[in-house]
Amino acid sequence: MDNSGVFIRDVMMRDGLQNLKDFIPTDAKIQLFRMLVATGIRHIEFASFVNPKAVPQFADASQVARAVLPVTPTGVEVSALIPNLKGAQLALDSGVRRLAFVMSVSESHNMNNVRRSTAESIDELKRILALKDEHPNMIVDVGMATVFGCPFEGKISPKVVLQFVRRFYEIGIRGMAVADTVGFGNPKEIKEVCRLCVLEFPDAVFSVHLHNTRGLGSANALAAYESGIRIFDGAVGGLGGCPFAPGARGNTATEDLVYMFEAMGIPTGTNMDALLEVARYFRSVKPDIHFSSNILEAGVPKYLGAITRDGTEQKWS
Ligand code: COA
Ligand code: ZN
Repeated sequence: MDNSGVFIRDVMMRDGLQNLKDFIPTDAKIQLFRMLVATGIRHIEFASFVNPKAVPQFADASQVARAVLPVTPTGVEVSALIPNLKGAQLALDSGVRRLAFVMSVSESHNMNNVRRSTAESIDELKRILALKDEHPNMIVDVGMATVFGCPFEGKISPKVVLQFVRRFYEIGIRGMAVADTVGFGNPKEIKEVCRLCVLEFPDAVFSVHLHNTRGLGSANALAAYESGIRIFDGAVGGLGGCPFAPGARGNTATEDLVYMFEAMGIPTGTNMDALLEVARYFRSVKPDIHFSSNILEAGVPKYLGAITRDGTEQKWS
């Protein structure tokens, strides 16, 4: 297994903000994006193109897209979540070319989240893929929610998950995120599902999206790493949670993932100081924010100077 590094996709602006009732001003979102770019993060999921009545936070998704795309350096990927064809069209019209289509592998959560059966979601995905003729640059990845458990149905069998993966693969999807939406998974289960995915579909690219609801986020990420996964979702400050999944809480904090991998000698290409700056800025925008991040609480020990600019102990406030 290679040790050449991992790729972190920050989803603070999407998963982190979707769960906040207060509207974060558009200018602050744009500033967050600029600061995330400055961290060295190479993929930012910046918004959802969803019904603004369902998630008012993203009523300005098009505006944010139009502001951030021109300031995105080469080498940084930008994507947006979409639940349906309308979301895909709005995102493409705003210049977004990488779309993260979300659907759940549990019928009840899919219905609660996007008001469709899983079969209807797959039909919708096919309609989205048909936009490729008009938009040849479009890339569609799939985010599979509730892979390790659903708040309504409980555990989901890896067999069911693999059936979905095969279905997506057959219709041409090559980027798939395996998501523990409510934080029900444990390292053993993560390892099993990730191994099956990687072994059965070696030319697909899998990533993991692991909520840290019960403190297993980093352990689960390590289990995924050991199964061959190299792309990890994180959210600065450990923000996040699905408003349509009772019990969902924050993502694994990007800075906690960066700390773990860098401490193990696995490069992330990300600057810790700059990540802490993002959290500091967000607190200035929303002083009552509750972060859930070990690194924000404890700082980085001095011996890990290599991941900071000046090698001194990092205290974020
Ligand atoms: N973006 C913006 N508006 C959208 C939209 C989208 N992607 N999809 C639908 N709409 C609008 C429609 O135009 C319609 O508007 P109107 O009331 O002014 O006529 C309205 O929403 C209802 O459309 P409909 O197709 O009936 O959608 P719905 O009400 O069944 O909602 C979803 C389906 C998926 C759009 C909605 O449930 C949703 O946005 N969910 C959010 C899911 C989410 O973000 N989850 C967290 C991330 S995992
Ligand atoms: Zn999530």
